[in-house]
Amino acid sequence: MDRILIDTDPGVDDAQAILLAAAHPKHRIEGLLAVAGNVGLEHTLRNSLLLTEVIDQKIPVYPGCAQPLVMFQEDAADAHGHDGLGDVGLVPQQRQAETEHAALALVRMANESPNEITLAAIGPLTNVAVALTIDPDLPKKLKRLVVMGGAVTGHGNTSSITAEFNIYFDPEAAHMVFTAWAKVGLLIDVVDWEVTKRHGFPQEVVNRWRTMDSPKAKFFKAITDKNYDRSFNVLKRPSLYAADPLALAVLLEPDIVTKAEQRHLSIEINGSHSRGQTIVDWDNRLGKPANANIILAVDDLRFQALMEQGLR
Ligand code: BDR
Ligand code: CA
Repeated sequence: MDRILIDTDPGVDDAQAILLAAAHPKHRIEGLLAVAGNVGLEHTLRNSLLLTEVIDQKIPVYPGCAQPLVMFQEDAADAHGHDGLGDVGLVPQQRQAETEHAALALVRMANESPNEITLAAIGPLTNVAVALTIDPDLPKKLKRLVVMGGAVTGHGNTSSITAEFNIYFDPEAAHMVFTAWAKVGLLIDVVDWEVTKRHGFPQEVVNRWRTMDSPKAKFFKAITDKNYDRSFNVLKRPSLYAADPLALAVLLEPDIVTKAEQRHLSIEINGSHSRGQTIVDWDNRLGKPANANIILAVDDLRFQALMEQGLR
């Protein structure tokens, strides 16, 4: 069994991603590291605990950072609900959070088992950046890092036009992470907002999932209802975008990737219009070694099959 940690800010699509990952036969989720992002930490921590109950796995949940490193800009409650999970009133019944901080838990596990843990970072990178300040050798001690974040040609989804939410929420943290991986010549797998838009779930597929008769599918439907309506009826999107499930699918089955490019990626932390932008040196103008394996296309049917497996 491959061991994974998920750093997360649930978040409707974070919840979907955790359902997807929990059902994978060759991976074991060893912990959820909660971070503030879509909504405040009190919600993302509580939602993480709830998720361990929904998937019925006794996974430790660690409370992480409640604030970005430098300054708060915006959350994503408009997309995820004020409680982060569609405001349907679901709360954990039994599970309690660990007392250890998420950044410390990450450092501890990476040091106990060097090169064994794959980290999925599907929220802002605050916890990972703090872990890096505690242990600058962290990149070499993880087996792999998959980040959901960025908009690699500047088609963002925040009020900072060119920036994607996870990076824009904490650009300094993202800067620290991408710089640290670059320094030791390691690649981060990047699943950005633009590939997310190219590989959403088609409406007819989601409709089928919404009628599945299992507790997990019912949970999926409940938390996704508002997002479904907003996506298809208000925003008229062509599919249901599922950023975090896509990142987990890439982590769990790397060969679903049909196109990827390795490039140097850095974070704009100063720009007045572009703070949080992921700047990709597509033409290798600066000659810096690549630090990002940018996922550009995946096998849609396999991605959908992984999600469906998580709903059974
Ligand atoms: C990312 O931002 C959050 O709103 C989602 O959970 C996802 O991680 C997409 O930009
Ligand atoms: Ca997320």
